[in-house]
Amino acid sequence: MVSAKSGKAMADNTAGASFPWDETLAELSGPADGALNIASACADRHVTAGRGGNVAVRWLGRRQERRDITYLQLSDLSGRAAAVLTSLGVSPGDTVAVLLDRVPELYAAALGIWKAGGVYCPLFAAFGPGPIKARLEIGKARVLIASEELYARKLEASRGALPQLEHVLLVSEDGGLSRPHDGCSDFRALLAATPAMEPVATTADSPAFLHFTSGTTGTPKGALHPHRAVLAHLVTAQTVFGLGEGDIFWCTADPGWVTSTAYGVIAPLVAGATVLVDEADVEPRRWYGILHDEKVTAWYTTPTSIRTMMRFGAALARSYRENSLRVVASVGEPLNGEAVSWGQKALGVPFLDTWWQTETGAIVIANAPGQGRRPGSMGKALPGVETAVMRCDGGVARQVETPDMVGELALRLNWPSLFSNYLGGDGRSGACFRDGWYFTGDLVKQDADGFFWFIGRADDMIKCGGLQIGPFEVEGMLMDHPAVAEVGVVGKPDLLLREVPVAFASLNPGFEAGDALRAELLSFARQELGVAMAPREITFIAELPKTNTGKILRRVLKAKAVGEPEGMDLLPSLPACPGRFDDE
Ligand code: WT7
Repeated sequence: MVSAKSGKAMADNTAGASFPWDETLAELSGPADGALNIASACADRHVTAGRGGNVAVRWLGRRQERRDITYLQLSDLSGRAAAVLTSLGVSPGDTVAVLLDRVPELYAAALGIWKAGGVYCPLFAAFGPGPIKARLEIGKARVLIASEELYARKLEASRGALPQLEHVLLVSEDGGLSRPHDGCSDFRALLAATPAMEPVATTADSPAFLHFTSGTTGTPKGALHPHRAVLAHLVTAQTVFGLGEGDIFWCTADPGWVTSTAYGVIAPLVAGATVLVDEADVEPRRWYGILHDEKVTAWYTTPTSIRTMMRFGAALARSYRENSLRVVASVGEPLNGEAVSWGQKALGVPFLDTWWQTETGAIVIANAPGQGRRPGSMGKALPGVETAVMRCDGGVARQVETPDMVGELALRLNWPSLFSNYLGGDGRSGACFRDGWYFTGDLVKQDADGFFWFIGRADDMIKCGGLQIGPFEVEGMLMDHPAVAEVGVVGKPDLLLREVPVAFASLNPGFEAGDALRAELLSFARQELGVAMAPREITFIAELPKTNTGKILRRVLKAKAVGEPEGMDLLPSLPACPGRFDDE
């Protein structure tokens, strides 16, 4: 099954093994032997090279405000933020959580945390109090930098239940804080009053950033990345986006996403470009205006945003066809061929699909310029990345040698931005690491020319507008409601968001299934989980379908969600490996 029978040869996926990462390390590391700090590489390095006057961050506010931060200012601001954190007792390796929208302080915070040797852990503003609290606990955050509004709405009430959270630094909308908050300080005031410090000596292996991904078990897992990841950010900034001085790079990602850390913060800065940050949410007319007026040269967004723009029609897009765009790309979910060619017609440049995930820390597969493109495919492995398509054969993982055969995408562990371990998970001993490979959990096929095609997830993750939602976290929260006896959450296909979470619940005695309870449960979920993660529908059923071993049969629920009578396999079945694909 895994040997070449078709006569067609599989693409050579081993070219990545010999990439000169040492040269990138030498380019980015500081004068001290073995030193590497993301913030120094992203800011101080440019100042030393005489580029301090270039604009590092161009921020556009919701209400037409704008602010430019030069590399020199960013270097100073981040040194001040590092000094503030250090004075609060942050030591190398400590987690500092960040709950901010797309505001200028995000940059001082992220780079300041790295200069203090801390671990930058951004959280989604769209999450409700439950998921935020869970992540602060698992990440053992000692300090939180948050907007005053988000803190007041999502955390203030439960602060007492987070004893390890020693300090909260608040950022207000404008000027000072609107009122005093117990145990909190004003981040901006502290920045203004504290002189900058030099970065602490971190190395390529020092932990740098932490993002939570919804695990396949009950709790979210934190994927921890080392400072070394910046090597991959520089290389992909160049190979995928061709970024350098003079570029205006716009990444639309929410700060809670690894896409923001990697491409909304690190990649454009380490490449010396100007990163454009728009505080507002998706609004196609505004977006076209920004692309045009701000002379954006490279744009990174999501298929959901592209579909939203497509809904506004090509005529609107064409009125902005005069633009400076060189590259537009997307990530997070499959980008269909139609969207690729729509970009070409409407904006004059095709959308390029890129593939990666929280764990890979940076783009690893892309329709990158110079590598050829194939609309509808995720692209090819980038230089420096070694890939394989794996299937289990008698319990042993083997590489697929036949083109177009579905298997799990695996990556060699020699890629610098690969996560080092999971917090709240099973480190590197878990099912995803085996025989020198990292198993991504994505099912793909690779054609004879080396292009990868996305098939689906090998697990139960739900992809909603690019956000990965673990059904277990949603189920756990719903179970907290006294009416719910058992609950199963699955993804239901959606034209815009690709999938939305929907729940099937059985009830405890004494509760009556009906519209009133449904409305109550939906609002309970939105309140606790936040709008992004909450189920959009709840269906009451007498009993959940189960396997012999008592596990919820999600494919049966999935079939119910789409209105199919029988639970048919929605994905091609793969032979089971122990600890993998063994949900039934
Ligand atoms: C999962 C990772 C990458 C940062 C944002 C998401 C899916 C990602 C694509 C793509 C089809 C994609 C995969 C992956 N995904 N890019 N181009 N085509 N699916 O990070 O939340 O860790 O999600 O998103 O299933 O494993 P994430």
